[in-house]
Amino acid sequence: MKTLLQLNTSIYSAGGQSSRLADAFVATQKAIDPGLKVIVRDFAKEPVPHLTADGFQGFLSKPEERTPEQARVVAYSDALIDELRRADTIALGLPMYNFSVPSTLKAYFDHIARAGVTFKYTDKGLVGLLTGKKAYVFAARGGVYLGTTADTQTAYVRQFLAFLGITDVEFVHAEGLAISDASRKAALEKAEAAIAGLRELEAA
Ligand SMILES: Cc1cc2nc3c(=O)[nH]c(=O)nc-3n(C[C@H](O)[C@H](O)[C@H](O)COP(=O)(O)O)c2cc1C
Repeated sequence: MKTLLQLNTSIYSAGGQSSRLADAFVATQKAIDPGLKVIVRDFAKEPVPHLTADGFQGFLSKPEERTPEQARVVAYSDALIDELRRADTIALGLPMYNFSVPSTLKAYFDHIARAGVTFKYTDKGLVGLLTGKKAYVFAARGGVYLGTTADTQTAYVRQFLAFLGITDVEFVHAEGLAISDASRKAALEKAEAAIAGLRELEAA
């Protein structure tokens, strides 16, 4: 049985456009594989807190040296990583907020980047340890930035996932959602068509 991890990072929870696009994708995957196990992590309902220096020190410490609070942070990080490790496919809903990723997604990244656990240092540089996964990213924006320096998200998310070993990443962008009703409708139709195209690829 395959597992899909859906990460909804919109402040609007399941109502966010990025979450809805991720939902549409998950529905196509369920249609292809009815036995697919879907786990949804909703960052609006359960925000990942900021990583603190004390918590990070817990990552670096041996288990027997951790304070109770550090042990709690490490156990939380371990649980997030286990959930991600068990997933074959990741569907990430990615809103643009103030030219960046949602702050809770950054906090999540800070909790899953663990030396010796999700990546390691080698003579040849960094090696990601979460290999063999495919990620789909559903990016929703009010404006239109793809291919410009204002698109701070696409390269960053690609870079971070590659750092963990997740190099097979496909983006679907829905841009111009705040420009006009017509622009919003066209962007969502284009994104939905792209998602339907992903289904054909997967089913082929
Ligand atoms: C707090 C906030 C900040 C935003 N900042 C931007 C921005 O910098 N650039 C942009 O194009 N759209 C911006 N938007 C519009 C969102 O990208 C757009 O509403 C998109 O649908 C958000 O995804 P969501 O519906 O999944 O939450 C912002 C929206 C909010 C609520």
